[in-house]
Amino acid sequence: MKLLILPSGWKLFAAFAGLTLFMTAAVLLSYPPGADGLLSAIRATARSSFALFLLAFLASSLVTLLPGNGSRRLLRERRFVGLAFAFSHALHGLLIYRYAQQFPELFWDGQTITSNLPGSIGYLFLLLLTLTSFKTPMRLLGRRAWKALHSTGMWVLAGVFCLSFYNGTPKGGWYPLAFALIFSAIAFKLTAKLARQQRRTASALS
Ligand code: HEM
Repeated sequence: MKLLILPSGWKLFAAFAGLTLFMTAAVLLSYPPGADGLLSAIRATARSSFALFLLAFLASSLVTLLPGNGSRRLLRERRFVGLAFAFSHALHGLLIYRYAQQFPELFWDGQTITSNLPGSIGYLFLLLLTLTSFKTPMRLLGRRAWKALHSTGMWVLAGVFCLSFYNGTPKGGWYPLAFALIFSAIAFKLTAKLARQQRRTASALS
């Protein structure tokens, strides 16, 4: 079956960005103005970012382990899915900034500069990955450095998601499931890496 209905390229980006904006507005409007609505929107954008991140993180592994039209198309659209992740996470950041400004006592309750460090490093990589997703910086960086940066950045971001969900597991609810999801995604990616290495060795030997 052809996947013609799905937009691609910048239209795909716009569709994901629009959905994320709509979801954020709906969450904010479903609460009276205040801390609860902001916190809910922060969580909601972290979840939309997580879904988009997983698609970008697993695209090449899906082509290796589950080849087909769907996985190949996802790989072709990876750049736009990645940029949609960056958009969703920029909203996460903006909402956090607003929350910290409006409710500093709630924001800093149980938080320290150190506990915010992994997330801040995550944002630094997100910025670098976003900036280098465009042609000129990509060319300036060169293929090897670009690959190294994007691979490292995606692993750092996977680590930040892993840590955020792990820290949430004592609360129960969705957190243990989310932690299991990111853990399985990491195992899946490593398996695909191993499979590619084995295929390369096998073809070198034959
Ligand atoms: C790339 C960096 C980051 C990632 C991947 C990330 C991811 C997450 C995740 C997965 C959640 C939990 C969502 C849920 O409830 O399901 C979350 C919530 C949250 N994040 Fe982020 N985050 C990042 C950066 C930051 C930074 C730098 C800050 C603050 C300085 C921050 C503040 C928060 C807050 C306040 C919440 C809500 C916590 C609560 O539910 O009480 N995040 N983030």
